[in-house]
Amino acid sequence: MFAYVGSAGLAFGLRPRAWSADADPTLNTAVSTAADAFNVFDLEAVARSKLPIAHLAYLDTGVEGDMMVRANREGFGKYQIRAHRLVDTTRVDTQVELFGTTWPTPIVLAPVGSQCAFFPEGEIASARAARAKNHLLLLSTVTTSPVEEVIAARGPPVWFQLYPTAKWKITEALLRQAQAAGCPVVALTIDNQVNAGREALARGKKLDPRDCRTCHLPVPGSLFRLKPMFDGLDVSMLSGVITAHLTWDFIRRLRDATSDEDRSEGHSHRGRRHTGTAA
Ligand SMILES: Cc1cc2nc3c(=O)[nH]c(=O)nc-3n(C[C@H](O)[C@H](O)[C@H](O)COP(=O)(O)O)c2cc1C
Repeated sequence: MFAYVGSAGLAFGLRPRAWSADADPTLNTAVSTAADAFNVFDLEAVARSKLPIAHLAYLDTGVEGDMMVRANREGFGKYQIRAHRLVDTTRVDTQVELFGTTWPTPIVLAPVGSQCAFFPEGEIASARAARAKNHLLLLSTVTTSPVEEVIAARGPPVWFQLYPTAKWKITEALLRQAQAAGCPVVALTIDNQVNAGREALARGKKLDPRDCRTCHLPVPGSLFRLKPMFDGLDVSMLSGVITAHLTWDFIRRLRDATSDEDRSEGHSHRGRRHTGTAA
């Protein structure tokens, strides 16, 4: 008897073609709501058509000539999923437990600051999306929506991403605020030690016909305007959230400043912050 055990391959006799909006933007015309998108690349194509060029350049690129973003993508492309055939997949369990909470999948919304620059409802819209799909949300220090409102829209727990500042008092105040709002875990971003060389952003700004100074005031501390975590804090001595002095001493200090119930976790920007250091 002949038994054929193999993978099912269907030949449609079509010319090979890239069926993704990324490869062929004309395929993207049908995406008018998020529900129309088949994958995130469909949404990326919509963002390209809708966002002002300077904001798009900030959102969509890495640093220097994007060398590290490309290298990371190529690197991840080399990973493949090894399928085990003849295994019952009726029940697939992708659950993970993180600091005492069980999540249905390991997919989390990484911290992304300044979201109101891309969509008027900013972090609140992301919080609603995270709630709808039950994903963990990490809220950025430079959120443009108040932490309390984000937690109300997502439902707890929401983790807080900490950009430590050069002034411990301010860093501590940010932590306290997140703790008081109910964030149980702090994700510390550790690769923010030098200013990133954002070439694409500089080019985007040149091409953007709008007057950027309407929002980005050319005065010290303007970075913290519209960033509610910094409301009421004295940021006059801060030029940004770059912390050159971040060492293990800071980790010890952070640990001492958080109670037993609060936990911390490391986070990095991958190719968005440095070139030459792989993800
Ligand atoms: C527009 C934008 C804003 C970001 N803002 C933050 C932030 O405020 N804090 C932070 O720790 N990481 C921030 N990140 C970094 C992301 O959390 C993430 O680490 C990075 O995009 C790499 O992941 P990816 O390769 O999947 O994009 C930001 C990324 C983007 C694209």
